[in-house]
Amino acid sequence: MFAIHLMAFYFSKLKEDQIKKVDRFLYHMRLSDETLLDIMARFQAEMQKGLGKDTNPTASVKMLPTFVRAIPDGSENGEFLSLDLGGSKFRVLKVQVSEEGKRNVQMESQFYPTPNEIIRGNGSELFDYIADCLADFMKTRGLKHKKFPLGLTFSFPCRQTKLEEGILLSWTKKFKARGVQDTDVVSCLTKAVKKHKDIDVDILTLVNDTVGTMMTCAYDDPYCEVGVIIGTGTNACYMEDMSNIDLVEGDEGRMCINTEWGAFGDDGTLEDIRTEFDRELDLGSLNPGKQLFEKMISGLYLGELVRIILLKMAKAGLLFGGKKSSALHTKGKIETRHVAAMEKYKEGLANTREILTDLGLEPSEADCIAVQHVCTIVSFRSANLCAAALAAILTRLRENKKLERLRTTVGMDGTLYKIHPQYPKRLHKVVRRLVPNCDVRFLLSESGSTKGAAMVTAVASRVQAQRKQIDKVLALFQLTREQLMDVQGKMRREFEYGLKRDTHLMATVKMLPTYVCGMPDGTEKGKFLALDLGGTNFRVLLVKIRSGRRSVRMYNKIFAIPLEIMQGTGEELFDHIVQCIADFLDYMGLKGVQLPLGFTFSFPCRQTSIDKTGSNMCYMEEMRNIELVEGDEGKMCINTEWGGFGDNGCIDDIRTQYDEKVDEGSLNPGKQRYEKMTSGMYLGEIVRQILIDLTKQGLLFRGQISERLRTRGIFETKFLSQIESDRLALLQVRSILQQLGLDSTCEDSIVVKEVCGAVSRRAAQLYGAGLAAVVEKKREDQGLEYLKITVGVDGTLYKLHPHFSRILQETVKELAPRCDVTLMLSEDGSGKGAALITAVAKRLQQAQKEN
Ligand code: BG6
Ligand code: GLC
Repeated sequence: MFAIHLMAFYFSKLKEDQIKKVDRFLYHMRLSDETLLDIMARFQAEMQKGLGKDTNPTASVKMLPTFVRAIPDGSENGEFLSLDLGGSKFRVLKVQVSEEGKRNVQMESQFYPTPNEIIRGNGSELFDYIADCLADFMKTRGLKHKKFPLGLTFSFPCRQTKLEEGILLSWTKKFKARGVQDTDVVSCLTKAVKKHKDIDVDILTLVNDTVGTMMTCAYDDPYCEVGVIIGTGTNACYMEDMSNIDLVEGDEGRMCINTEWGAFGDDGTLEDIRTEFDRELDLGSLNPGKQLFEKMISGLYLGELVRIILLKMAKAGLLFGGKKSSALHTKGKIETRHVAAMEKYKEGLANTREILTDLGLEPSEADCIAVQHVCTIVSFRSANLCAAALAAILTRLRENKKLERLRTTVGMDGTLYKIHPQYPKRLHKVVRRLVPNCDVRFLLSESGSTKGAAMVTAVASRVQAQRKQIDKVLALFQLTREQLMDVQGKMRREFEYGLKRDTHLMATVKMLPTYVCGMPDGTEKGKFLALDLGGTNFRVLLVKIRSGRRSVRMYNKIFAIPLEIMQGTGEELFDHIVQCIADFLDYMGLKGVQLPLGFTFSFPCRQTSIDKTGSNMCYMEEMRNIELVEGDEGKMCINTEWGGFGDNGCIDDIRTQYDEKVDEGSLNPGKQRYEKMTSGMYLGEIVRQILIDLTKQGLLFRGQISERLRTRGIFETKFLSQIESDRLALLQVRSILQQLGLDSTCEDSIVVKEVCGAVSRRAAQLYGAGLAAVVEKKREDQGLEYLKITVGVDGTLYKLHPHFSRILQETVKELAPRCDVTLMLSEDGSGKGAALITAVAKRLQQAQKEN
């Protein structure tokens, strides 16, 4: 019993001593959390540098755009071929992705060797070899009869400008084929494949293995937005907001960025972290000075690092009694799989003894314990460094999303991560410690990068197909110049019908005389009362107009109209109004004075009261043209009521099925067709109808029509205006949609924004065509070569929408090139106008008297 205790004591003392000894020797390799947080901050800065247009050329972390924008949504399908080159193994695969209610991916694959003379020989021979393997695979599987889309997983840094192209920036890891750097890998492969007349493939995508991994995992977990490889090499990718990617045009949505974090430190940023062992390893590598972060982490180098350390320790007399073997002197003799075996829980020590003995050494118990601890320190540092960089990415994601807490999934792959017994646990633990405000799930990609690469290929073809469908719908709202001219011509004809006695009754544009016969000329003056009835409240205004300076001062008081009066008899209503006026005069200290009065009565006579934000226009017409009113002298204002334009079907050729739906659901079906295509209130409804249709076609909201989407009127003008604002990031668009109860992805939000844009643009153009008809008419009526005219505009759509006024102005300019039209926003609503009309009427009356 005593002997056992003594043994145990002796062993733990021995262990402690060895561990202390190694800890002392490898002091620089043990990284505190403080250091890791510092490295994390440095990596954050590096990412920023890589993303910036001006800083990218000198950045060591290249942050390469991948042109992968969408994560699989389960609707992918098809048969694809895949090549997977760059990791420890080269594979050719056939992947079949089917939907059929449940997600289903079937893969057949074959590994092919990659001899050193091929991967470090001539570039064209390398691609010929790959093409040969592909042809062999297709032949043996009987796949020669058919054309296949092909996705290439190419695990090296490539600069991409599209999915199907990639310029190799540099070889990394074990590869060093000549003449490939700075060329497009896809065309190299295409060229080689073309030599095989009996196979036909279309290389649609090139993806990095990190991207493939992320996509593989995202297929099973839609939260996955990061991919990490800790294998032969190490690297990570993640979904970045487009607005942060300077190197790619466009601000909408997200794109996957291949960080190429292996090159972190190549500019010297990690010199304080690197040790003499790292430097020695680098000098003996295929690419000295390059991939310095990778060389401290990945599988290709860990074993070698251990070997270098053991040799140094032996040389210092700290191991093997100072003896070295020739194997210990030989580069590459210790591999990562050895490190993993030595760190195994139970068999670890025995494995260590065996491995060291195989290296021609004669290790003591103490040596085995020490060597095992060297392995632990080296692999722990690797996990720590990965964790720091990954923590930086997670923080970036959280900040991009402006979240307090981020819930996300990281797709993982790579032999080191997979075969090392402690690695995953250590990595996960450190990441969670470094970013306590992220709930991270680590998901191992069971089927490598290829499944993901096939997804990218499938997504690319799906996005392509869907885009076509969406474009088809949006095209219905794109009016050509000819179509707009046609609308202008028809509007002009309708004006004439409305003005003529014979055709007036049949006319859809009613052209109502208003008996407003003059415009203010600046000589009006005096005090006027104005009433404004039609909104929620009743306003009484006192308007003081001073001539000469054209100054107008307004005082007003709002009176609520009780419901019983609003819905009572007309007499009661007018009695109430009179009472309000009396109160107001009293309030203004004007009791008993006699003042001229103007009345804005915003109840359209032939419309229903829903048209609050409707579209209408009035203009000054020559009296001689107004057949409904006696007299030929002077002018009178015509209230066109143009909202009814098209009610006879004359613009049905440009009305879409969505306009028809909106009309059917309105309070006045068949009426106010032009208004329903141009005014704020209906635009939201048109958008809603399109969204319903796109969702039904499976192009939006994952094909799910929510209750909210079925709700009439959810899209108000203000939402349209907000969504289309250029200043708004897509996430904000998303949150607006979420407020509306529409759970949209970023891609959905882009489509919704496009739909809003198409609808409001058409509205502005149609409105512009109407306006062009009026100004052209005025120009012709006045027999002018060129007309300068100001148009007063009011209304929420015009005021709030970010593009409406501009498009309107452009359209008028285009359709009425001989008119110089200034659009002027009415700031003071209708009250001032009513007073001015009264003032003009009074001036005209006086002038008549004097005559
Ligand atoms: C595999 C991928 O699953 O992981 C490879 O399919 C990738 O393309 C690899 O390069 C990374 O691991 P390793 O350890 O083989 O380099
Ligand atoms: C190397 C490559 C990189 C790859 C990684 C993992 O770092 O440069 O593209 O993703 O290895 O295989």
